[in-house]
Amino acid sequence: MRMVRTVLMVLLVVFIGSLVTRAMQAPTPPAAAVSDLEIGLRRTPLTDDPAPPVYRYPEAPPGESTKLPRFWEGAPPLVPHSLQGLIPITREDNLCLFCHANGSTEPTDPPQVPKSHLTDYRRAPDVIRDSVAGARWNCTVCHVMQTNAPALVGNTYKAAIRNPQ
Ligand code: HEC
Ligand code: HEC
Repeated sequence: MRMVRTVLMVLLVVFIGSLVTRAMQAPTPPAAAVSDLEIGLRRTPLTDDPAPPVYRYPEAPPGESTKLPRFWEGAPPLVPHSLQGLIPITREDNLCLFCHANGSTEPTDPPQVPKSHLTDYRRAPDVIRDSVAGARWNCTVCHVMQTNAPALVGNTYKAAIRNPQ
C-alpha cells in the first residue's frame, strides 16, 4: 500500500513539473516594434542629438510687464517681469523686497507681499511681522518666470478662481 502511494506521489510530481515547464516555455507573442519617434516627448530619433530650441524669459523690466493669470486659487503668481540683475537671492541680498515689501499701500506701486509672507506659521502663526518670514525669503522657490516655450502636452484644466487678481 505504501509502495503504491509513493509511486502515485512521484507520478503526480512529475506531471505537475511537466505542466510548469510547458507553461514556462510557452512562446510569448512578439511585441510590436515601437518607433523611437514615438518614445518620449522629443519626437526625434534617439540617435540624433539636436540642439534644443532657444526660449526666452520675459525681458520687460519691473513696472513694464503685465501680471499673468493665476493657475489656480492660491497658486503663487508667476513673475511677469525680467529678473536680470535681481537674482540670485542670497542670505544678505534680496532685491525683491525693495519693491515688494516696502510697506507701500498705493495701488499704482508694485504689488506688496501678502500678510502670509510676514507670518512665521511654525513659531508664531498669529503674529504679523514687519519683515518677511524666513520661510518666504527665497522668493524664486515659489515665484517663477515663464519662457515662451509652447506647452509640450495640452491641458484643458480651467481654474475656478473666486477673486481673480
Ligand atoms: C524695481 C521694482 C521690482 C523689483 C526689484 C522686483 N519686482 Fe516683482 N514686480 C514689480 C512690479 C511693478 C510688478 C507688477 C507688474 C509690472 O508692473 O511689471 C511686479 C510683479 C511681480 C509678481 C506678480 C505679482 C502678481 O500678483 O501677479 C511677482 C510674483 C514678482 N513681481 C516677483 C518678484 C521677485 C521674485 C523679485 C525678485 C527676484 C521681484 N519681483 C523684484 C516690481 C519689482
Ligand atoms: C513658499 C512659497 C512662497 C515664497 C517663498 C514666496 N511666496 Fe509670494 N506668494 C506665494 C503664494 C502661494 C501667493 C498667493 C497667495 C494668495 O493668493 O493668497 C503669493 C503671493 C505673492 C504676491 C502677490 C500679492 C498680491 O496681492 O497679489 C507677491 C507680490 C509675492 N507673493 C511676492 C513674494 C516675494 C517678494 C517673496 C520673497 C520675499 C515671496 N513672495 C516668497 C508663495 C510664496
